[in-house]
Amino acid sequence: MNDKKRGFGRAPDGVATLSGTPVRTLLADAGVTTPAYLYDLSAIKERVEEIRGAFGSAPHLIAYAVKANSAGSIVRTITEAGAGIDAVSGGELRLARALNVPPRKIVLSGVAKRDDEIELALSEDILAIQAESLEELKRIVLIARRRGTPARVSLRLNPSVQIDSHAHISTGHDAAKFGIARTELDATFSFLQTEEKHLRLVGLSTHVGSMLRTPDAYIDSARVVCESAHRARGAGRPLEYVDFGGGFGIDYGGGPADPPQKFAQAALGLLKEQKLDDLTLVVEPGRSLVGSYGVLISRVLQEKKSGERRWVMIDAGMNDLLRPALYQAMHRIEPIDEQPGDLVHRVVGPVCESTDDFGEHALGPIPEMVVIRDAGAYAFTMASEYNARPLPAEVFVREGKVVHANPSPGLDAWLAHRLKA
Ligand code: LLP
Repeated sequence: MNDKKRGFGRAPDGVATLSGTPVRTLLADAGVTTPAYLYDLSAIKERVEEIRGAFGSAPHLIAYAVKANSAGSIVRTITEAGAGIDAVSGGELRLARALNVPPRKIVLSGVAKRDDEIELALSEDILAIQAESLEELKRIVLIARRRGTPARVSLRLNPSVQIDSHAHISTGHDAAKFGIARTELDATFSFLQTEEKHLRLVGLSTHVGSMLRTPDAYIDSARVVCESAHRARGAGRPLEYVDFGGGFGIDYGGGPADPPQKFAQAALGLLKEQKLDDLTLVVEPGRSLVGSYGVLISRVLQEKKSGERRWVMIDAGMNDLLRPALYQAMHRIEPIDEQPGDLVHRVVGPVCESTDDFGEHALGPIPEMVVIRDAGAYAFTMASEYNARPLPAEVFVREGKVVHANPSPGLDAWLAHRLKA
């Protein structure tokens, strides 16, 4: 194993590195232009191994929430380290299968699945379709009946738990569109009873939200799943798994969150206490596997002064990294060749929107390029071509070396596609 610090770091001379190699060198070796995402595959692999270690010999499945980052090299790294996939669309399910993830290591989540996505899940015979409403179960039955094979389903429960996180990434409260509310459970269980021939209840799941700093709310919502697991077993249903969801937070610079291992241990403790530890424990981490191990490199285009105001304008915008515009998220932005300085600048992108603003950062003297940190999750996957800006490049690094570069599709491709429309 390499003794270099994994992920983002600084060399003694202050130069920004990934697994010890200067980011600038990696960018040059990859031969791509900015804006470009760089990911540390070695760090991601080690993260998965750490989490797996926390489960010991307990039956478990780490179902990576692939919506966080769907790059083939990343998904391969994570699944080759033993994880499965939490997909939320037919597209993500197809990606997982194209990368040879075994069907029984895949769950299909999502609040409004299309018929063709349900069909695909049934024909691939995945671990389960995680149903989020009675109405959805009724649609699954119709398709299962037509196919003549029972559907493996789980119920995603809405645990009615509030979390201390941004409103847009909190999913387990009463007003959220996600999951089956407690008030609907009786009707849902009776429906399962009447449709026993076509629906096989194999699991119970939940997901309370994202960016959890401690396991408290996670365990509160897991308890709701355990209650229903007792109920299902009491009614003679042979469950295979419980799924407590993802949501393990990371440090965006505002302070650390408990590591995923702590969530895993708390969850295992709960299952033991509840005498449900014969069931497989599924967890669905996304951000915590990849978020800290990606950076977005951007070139400074110019400075702009207007009276007292000053901006640094960079060539990455909200189309490349949407989180600041959408959730007021703060990603640290630092010079590529030296430690952050004292001088604070407001960093903005080129997109014609006021929200294309990355906030204030201690850049020091204005650098040639900047590193936008913690951009491994919900970054490229949420990118768009808004303002005719092609999707950014991606570079994959293993053991401090570029192993693959995926250049931007480029402007010619964008133009040809739009001219066809
Ligand atoms: N499972 C389900 C059912 C989910 O909806 C999600 C995330 C996860 C697992 C994974 O959560 P994670 O471990 O990554 O927190 N775009 C937002 C995050 C949206 C999360 C959506 N669901 C962001 O950039 O913060």
